[in-house]
Amino acid sequence: MNEAKLNEFMGKLVSDMGGAAMLANIILGDELGLYRAMADSQPVTPEALGSKTGCNARLVREWLNAHAASGYIEHIDGQFRLPEEQAMALAIEDSPVYVAGGAVVIASLFHDKDKLVAAMRGDGSLAWGDHHPCMFSGTERFFRPGYRAHLVAEWLPALEGVVDKLKTGAKVVDIGCGHGASTVIMAQAFPASRFVGIDYHAPSIDIATQRAQEGGVADRVSFAQGTAKNYPGNDYDLVCYFDCLHDMGDPVGAAQHAYQSLKPDGTVLLVEPYANDKLDENMTPVGRLFYAASTFICTPNSLSQEVGLGLGAQAGEARLRKVFTEAGFTHFRRAAETPFNLILEARK
Ligand SMILES: C[S@@+](CC[C@H](N)C(=O)[O-])C[C@H]1O[C@@H](n2cnc3c(N)ncnc32)[C@H](O)[C@@H]1O
Repeated sequence: MNEAKLNEFMGKLVSDMGGAAMLANIILGDELGLYRAMADSQPVTPEALGSKTGCNARLVREWLNAHAASGYIEHIDGQFRLPEEQAMALAIEDSPVYVAGGAVVIASLFHDKDKLVAAMRGDGSLAWGDHHPCMFSGTERFFRPGYRAHLVAEWLPALEGVVDKLKTGAKVVDIGCGHGASTVIMAQAFPASRFVGIDYHAPSIDIATQRAQEGGVADRVSFAQGTAKNYPGNDYDLVCYFDCLHDMGDPVGAAQHAYQSLKPDGTVLLVEPYANDKLDENMTPVGRLFYAASTFICTPNSLSQEVGLGLGAQAGEARLRKVFTEAGFTHFRRAAETPFNLILEARK
């Protein structure tokens, strides 16, 4: 036994356990408005923050101490300050790097632990809709900032000829749309186009419909329950998948259905978690997060559906290209990327 290696590994585990405990504290801060109350980056005492947010001052002090020890909040002379950068990540829901929603997704993994025990001892399946409800709200809040920052400004312009069609009036279907964040963002940017959102999870469709109304785009967006293999229509200009194709049991069948639903010059926009093609190349902080989430979410969802291909969240470009080639597409390329996403384009 190498004691130095043991100590190093114990240090890593203690750090990870602290990180996991901090995620629960992030959820507290988010729900109680503690970050928002510190978003001006002004120093504050625990007592002042407690009275501003209606929270117990002694518990607020402990929460602040945990944040100071984590490097999330600065501590100077008995006062605490949320730096601007941390405020962007934790307090400002409109910022492109807001991540508090991600903590809620991780919370759902703990809520669903018993279901995963059963899945791992059984056929491996756990359907999306069987997760704790915080999975759905957390996913929406985790993904929306990235879509707001990149979808209209970078991802759609990276596709060949798509923005021109959207400006003049295109027909778009957003498959696996969840709460419709991506659909509503596109509809707000392109008023001449029409958008359909499809998801097999009925409660998500209800929320998406509400989001379209709140976003002022209900006149050009409709949402319907359906699967990636049975939605109607054969004249779409753009078929989108945002972080959902790898979740499906039969991605090849889904891509075949997309093929027949597209116009001859139509385009598929495939947004997937960032991944390289091999496990050894995915040993990164992002790869770690996505493999861990995929064990609980993406892979068991795929195993719960017909075919059960189980691509997982780290499928990578080469594997995804194979899916689209098998479905009949002849063009497939990486159009863009971010640290979290691969943006892929497929055409007939
Ligand atoms: C990780 S969520 C992503 C939701 C949304 N696209 C977003 O980016 O916020 C995956 C979504 O795919 C949906 N889904 C999974 N399998 C599906 C299928 N075969 N047909 C339609 N929707 C499916 C789930 O219900 C879930 O809403």
